[in-house]
Amino acid sequence: MEYVTLGRTGLRASVAGLGGGGPSRLGLKTGRSETEIISLARQAIDSGVNLIDTAEVYGTEEVIGKALRNVPRHRILISAKKLPPLDHRDPAAELKRGLEETLRRLKTDYVDIYHLHSVRPEKYAGVRAKLVPALLEMRQEGKLRFLGITENFREDFGHEMLQLALEDDWWDVTMVGFNILNQSARTRVLPKTRAKNLGVMVMFAVRRALSQPERLRRVWEELARKGLVDPDVREGEGPLDFLVKEAGASSIPDAAYRFCRHEPGVHVVLTGTGNPDHLRENLDSLLKPPLPDAATRRLKEIFANVDCISGD
Ligand SMILES: NC(=O)c1ccc[n+]([C@@H]2O[C@H](COP(=O)([O-])OP(=O)(O)OC[C@H]3O[C@@H](n4cnc5c(N)ncnc54)[C@H](OP(=O)(O)O)[C@@H]3O)[C@@H](O)[C@H]2O)c1
Repeated sequence: MEYVTLGRTGLRASVAGLGGGGPSRLGLKTGRSETEIISLARQAIDSGVNLIDTAEVYGTEEVIGKALRNVPRHRILISAKKLPPLDHRDPAAELKRGLEETLRRLKTDYVDIYHLHSVRPEKYAGVRAKLVPALLEMRQEGKLRFLGITENFREDFGHEMLQLALEDDWWDVTMVGFNILNQSARTRVLPKTRAKNLGVMVMFAVRRALSQPERLRRVWEELARKGLVDPDVREGEGPLDFLVKEAGASSIPDAAYRFCRHEPGVHVVLTGTGNPDHLRENLDSLLKPPLPDAATRRLKEIFANVDCISGD
């Protein structure tokens, strides 16, 4: 495994982080047993992964707590999240209650990073006014070490919320959507996170469009219809086949993880799966060298105008 410093937190994090959410939720959503999920998490840890991401809404905190039972706490970085409870009658109290419950399920006294989860742009003003003070108090109490914020990339493809959040100085870490198909974070988010030295975790490196050829074809057709990509692909070929045929990638997910991993300003790329073979392949990909320059350049050119999809 390779390790990087997660921006101003100073934490040393593995370049690959285990994602406890996404479509598979470590296998919770794909029919895996608790024993299999624990074994998958242990496989990641045994491979050197030291950062694990989860959230109140994923339902994976408890099983992650079990997987971490015999691991010295200081060897693992836990990234946890809660949707901003702004509709609650006392949002700050609800946030505090949420973290207490998360700690109980994870069987720990603190989380390393506590994010407000999937914050929509129109909620950001409420987050600042009602939730940041509670986060700062919880940090003072030692229940969280660093403050984080994540966007709702499924809808906020152009990073509107993060444009607001990055004007403030509370956030130590952010989780941003970035992948081959929507690279808009390169110009809209990463220059600011680099200037402020925030820790950056990437989500959506691989979702459906980059793991299912049929889904990629449909996304490509949609982008071509909108005039955002040049539709001229050779008959019978997929738009990203060149990554395997010419650029030496072992698969499109392999290319997709490597593309994110080597983007300047990105620290950790999250990978979530319920499949031990995928986990092994993805960790291998994240440790491989960058794609050849020509392939990276071509991907930047093809998708230069795309900021309206998440790649799911
Ligand atoms: N707003 C937010 O804060 C937010 C939103 C989304 C995600 N997240 C976090 O970020 C993590 C990463 O999320 P993500 O969006 O990148 O999705 P993900 O959780 O990494 O899920 C990736 C999906 O692609 C499939 N996959 C993975 N490797 C594959 C491979 N080698 N070949 C074929 N299929 C493969 C997996 O299915 P299999 O199980 O079949 O492998 C899985 O369904 C999440 O787990 C979660 O912790 C946060």
